[in-house]
Parts: sequence; structure tokens; C-alpha cells
Amino acid sequence: MKRFFMTTPIYYVNAKPHLGHAYTTVVADALVRYHKLLGEETLFLTGTDEHGDKIVQAANKEGKTPKEFVDGISARFQALWPELHIRFDRFVRTTDTQHIQAVQAFLQQVYDAGDIYFGEFGGHYCYGCERFYTEKELENGLCPQHLTKPDYISEKNYFFRMSKYLPWLKQHIADNPDFIRPQRYRSEVLAMLESGALEDLCISRPKTRLTWGIELPFDKDYVCYVWFDALLNYISALGWPDKEDFTRFWPGEHLVAKDILKPHAVFWPTMLHAAGLPLYRHLNVHGYWLVRDTKMSKSLGNVVDPVNMSKKYGTDAFRYFLFREMHFGADASFSEDALMGRINADLANDLGNLFSRVLSMTAKYFNSRVPRPKTYQQDDHAIADICATAMHNYLQLFGSMQFAQGLESLWELVRELNKYVDTQAPWSLAKQGNMERLATVMYVLLAAMRKTALCLWPVMPKASADMLSQLGQTADQDNAPAIRMGEEVGNLDGIAPGTVLAASSNLFPRIEVKKDAKGNAEQEKEEKKEGKQKGQNSEGKAAASPPLLPPASAKGLVALEQFKALDIRVGTVQKAEKHPNADRIVRLEIDFGEAVNRQILSGLAEHYTPESLIGKRVCAILNLEPRKIRGLFSYGMILTAGNDAHLGLLTVDQNVPNGSEIA
Ligand code: MSP
Repeated sequence: MKRFFMTTPIYYVNAKPHLGHAYTTVVADALVRYHKLLGEETLFLTGTDEHGDKIVQAANKEGKTPKEFVDGISARFQALWPELHIRFDRFVRTTDTQHIQAVQAFLQQVYDAGDIYFGEFGGHYCYGCERFYTEKELENGLCPQHLTKPDYISEKNYFFRMSKYLPWLKQHIADNPDFIRPQRYRSEVLAMLESGALEDLCISRPKTRLTWGIELPFDKDYVCYVWFDALLNYISALGWPDKEDFTRFWPGEHLVAKDILKPHAVFWPTMLHAAGLPLYRHLNVHGYWLVRDTKMSKSLGNVVDPVNMSKKYGTDAFRYFLFREMHFGADASFSEDALMGRINADLANDLGNLFSRVLSMTAKYFNSRVPRPKTYQQDDHAIADICATAMHNYLQLFGSMQFAQGLESLWELVRELNKYVDTQAPWSLAKQGNMERLATVMYVLLAAMRKTALCLWPVMPKASADMLSQLGQTADQDNAPAIRMGEEVGNLDGIAPGTVLAASSNLFPRIEVKKDAKGNAEQEKEEKKEGKQKGQNSEGKAAASPPLLPPASAKGLVALEQFKALDIRVGTVQKAEKHPNADRIVRLEIDFGEAVNRQILSGLAEHYTPESLIGKRVCAILNLEPRKIRGLFSYGMILTAGNDAHLGLLTVDQNVPNGSEIA
């Protein structure tokens, strides 16, 4: 039996899980489910990364010991995943005894083999990243991630002879084109290896500077560098060096985003090679989820909470959206509008509608029992072919991480099935009393729907189980249906005549996009009315002289869409103080109903004292690119009217909630 071992990154415990973490873990979950459908034995590992300075700082802030702190957050991660219909088998924590012992055994082995040495090192250390940067890696002398100036630290440390293995690694990547996939990341790693910027890896931190880590087995004054420690989770969780699971399940399949490409593509394979262990099968790298094309960040207040989304729109619908919207490898932009659009178009209109109409017709014509098909006609063979192609493509594309394309190919089938209902018109066949033909048509539909539901189990486990049980099949969102997917392609079998079906189905109710739909509709009406009044007579012909034509604006015209692209909202000032380095500027912290208050800088100091601004209701554009003014960032722009001599704030005359949109 083939085995499939899937991992996610182990997440830092200094922040709440967000859309990005959820995406990786949902994709890993779906891949595991996909391999289950292929009949493989699977193991799904996720976990938390709990050592390092950042944890100590976060724990201090909450008045907890590091251990108390990490226990609390790790438990939150573990409890969260099932809410997103994620079913992991093993959860590793870098503070687990088994992990600590494995890390120490690994360090000792590589040390004994002579690939770890002690040396003096000076480098630019970024506390945010908890790593050293070489001169070349800095951007204008700043850390490329945090845009802060790193400290120059010189100290004695232990080093892993990584540079010794880099030529071998380059060759391995060249010989194995899909070792790192998609291609763009493989090229990135090869360029990194060509650049000559990679050196030996500093793998220790002196305890004088950091204590919250795994002690080096050969020197009690040092702890292990977090990345060296964290990467080893992938084998410590399997009980390396001596447990059976390691021999059963390693090598595994990794899934990460592009932010942690280097440790996974360079550090990790060289570490494994130095210890004489087989390399992982593939490093699968995905892009970043952005929000309105901007990186999610706490300070921007635009972090998407996956649990909120799944509560609001349904977990499986949310999962479907993630797969359908992101082309694996590239960045994608998240928006609730796009999510609602997908739910209404793909799930409610296409898939949900198919189930609803076919099940209610089968209830009406065959008392909710699968009818026995008679002679297949050309149209039925055509559907069988489309079904075989769609399933074949779906399975192949899913296996090669092309989820969006795979779903699109499955939806070609769903749409064809809806068309088939329209063209075969079962209601007419019933009226004509052509029960033989009606039985065949309904059977073809039900059989193809069952196949569709099976294919969707990895992406939408609960909805798939619901669909299958509506089709009279035994189904469970957590356990794979007892079928072999390979045997399902190329036939319309699998649903026995006589099987009792649900009489109706309402899988994905449409979401009423009230504001937009109504707003647009009214707007359209308004425009028509105006068109008539201003420019046209009752026959729609141009009137001789349009009355009351407004003068052109000095700024020219903008399309309505351009205005709508601005995110202008109402907020209440919570905190205000003078900018420490700019006399005319006030630094404000404003509540826009977001998870954290937003910092905005505004040139109001000559018109308002900071104290007088507290409690004021203001309007601001929130999606302007952040601007740095004398060392501080502004994440928006307050709207004012007037000029330098006389200036006022724009506000609203009703007590609408913070965060209300101005449209
Ligand atoms: N602890 C390390 C990983 C060690 S693995 C041996 C770490 N943790 S993390 O909490 O920062 O998680 C990073 C991962 O979270 C990314 O690689 C990705 O899987 C996920 N994401 C975080 N933000 C993301 C987006 N905005 N978009 C998509 N996924 C991203 O790094």
C-alpha cells in the first residue's frame, strides 16, 4: 500500500491563526483526503513552533512564563483546525520531550561527524526575524522583512558546514525538476545557490542572550537556533531516530508559503543529507494571500480571521473559495465580495441548483428512488464522456497542486449536467408518459452527481458527505468513502437502482448581496430617469437643448468604479498626540471597528489640540498606500475641508457604528 505523509509549517505561537495559516492547513488537509480517496495510507502532521525570543517577549507581556504562554496558544491552534473541517493525525510541539530528544540526537550525530564547528562570528542580527543577515541581504542597511536596522553582534557560536553541501544540493535540484515546485520557486532557489551569498549556518545562540530553546548536547552554554530546531519537527514527530513510523512514513511531502522557502529549500535538505537521511519528496510552495492587494498585517488592521469567515459563509464554501481563487504558487487577493460571488455563482447556482432540481424531480417521478436506466442514447454517452474527462482532469490536476484548474474542470461537468436537464426536459418526458427515457435521464444525472460529490470530498468534506447521503450513499465528513477513486473514472456506475434518495436539497443557499444589488439597481433606475429628463425626450431621442447641464469639474470626470475603489469609513479617535518629530502633525489612534485601532497621521496640529480630537468622529480613506512620515507610518488619510487658514474635519451627523462605509 502506498503511503503519504503530509506536513504544514509548524506555526509560531505569538499570533492568532489567520487566513494564511488556514490556507496552508486546509490545502494540506485536502491533499491528505485526496490521497485517502486513492486508497493510500496517510499521515497528516501539523504543529506549533514554540522556542525563541519572540515567545519570551510575548509571554512577558502577558505576565506568564514562556511555558504557560505556549501551552495556551498551542491549545488554541489545536482546537481551531477542526472548526475548518481539518483533520490532522499528529500535532507536534517543539517543547515536546520527544522533539527535544530528537533535536539533541541529531545535533550530536552531525557534530560527531565533524559537520558542526565552533567559531567566531560577527553579523547583522534582526531580533524580529531572530536571524543574522549578511551585508548583501540587507536592503539599504535595513532588514528586508522588518525595515529596521539590525544590531551588529559579534560572538562565538556553533556553525553547521552547510556550504560544504551546496554544490551537491544544486545538482540534486537540477536533476529533480519537481523537487521544489512550482517552477518559479525552484528557479529562485537555484538563483540563490548561484549567487554565492549562502555560507555556513550559525546554529546556536549563547544562553547569555537567549535561554528559551533546546540546549546543545555538546555545550550547556548554548541553545539551538530556532530554525534548526523547528525543521527537525518533520522527523521528530515520526519518532526519529528509532521509531517505526519514521521508516514507514518518511520521506514526506512539505507544504509551505514562499516566505519560508530558504530554510526549507536550502537548510533542511543539507541538514538531512549531512545526517545521511533521505530527502523529502517535494517542497510545495504557495503564494501569499493579500487583502486588497496589500499584505495582511496587524498594524494595518486587515488580518482576515478564517473562523469568522467560515461562520459567516459556511466552512466548506469558504474552503471551496480558497482552492478556486488561488492559483497555486501565485499570490491571490482575498475579498468578501469575491467570496460571495463564488458562492452564488458556483455553489448556489450551479452545484446547489443541480442537486435541488434533480432530487425534487426524482421525488416527483420516481418516489425518491434511483430508477433503472434503459437504453443509452447519444446525449447520454456524451455526458458519460464529459464526466470521465472531467474526473480524469480533476484528479490529475489536484494531484499536481493545480486546484483552481481542477475545480474548473469539474465545474464543466456540473454546468453540462444542468444543461442536460434543460435539454432533456424531464418534465416533458413525464408529461408524454415516456417513463423509460425519463428513467435513463434521471439515472445518468444521479450517477454523475455522485461522482461529482466524491471528487469534492477533499475540498468540501461536509458538503460532500451531505451530497452523498442525499444520494443514499454512506458518507462521513471525517472518514473517506470506501471507494477507490481510480475505479470510478470512465463509467456511470456506483449508484444502485432502487437506492432511496432525499426528497429535496438545499446545500448552498444564495447569499443576498443586499447593499450592492439594491444600490446598483436603484442607481441604474436613477440614471435612466435622469437620462430622460436631461438629455432625452419621451421617445428616447436627444432633446434640443439639455437644461441644467452642470459645468465641468476642474478635476475632470472619474468613473464610478474609481470612486468605489476607495475604502472610506467612519471612526472615533481614541488617542491623539503630537508627532514626536513633526510639529504640524498629530498621531491618532482611531477605532474603525477593526480588530485593532488604526494609526493615522494628519496635519491637524495647527488647528486642533490633540486632547480636543479625542472622541471626535472622523472620516478617513483606509486603503491608501501606507506613508511613512518622519519615522512613523500612517495607515490612512483623514478627510478635512478648508485650507491652511481655516480647516475643519469631515464627520457624520448620525450615530452610525465605527467602520461604517461612506458610499
Ligand atoms: N515557525 C515557522 C515555520 C517553521 S516550519 C519548520 C513560521 N511560522 S509562521 O507562523 O510564520 O507561519 C508561516 C506560514 O504561515 C507560511 O509559510 C504559510 O504557510 C502561512 N502563511 C502566513 N501568512 C500567509 C499569507 N499571507 N498567505 C498565505 N500563507 C501564509 O514561519
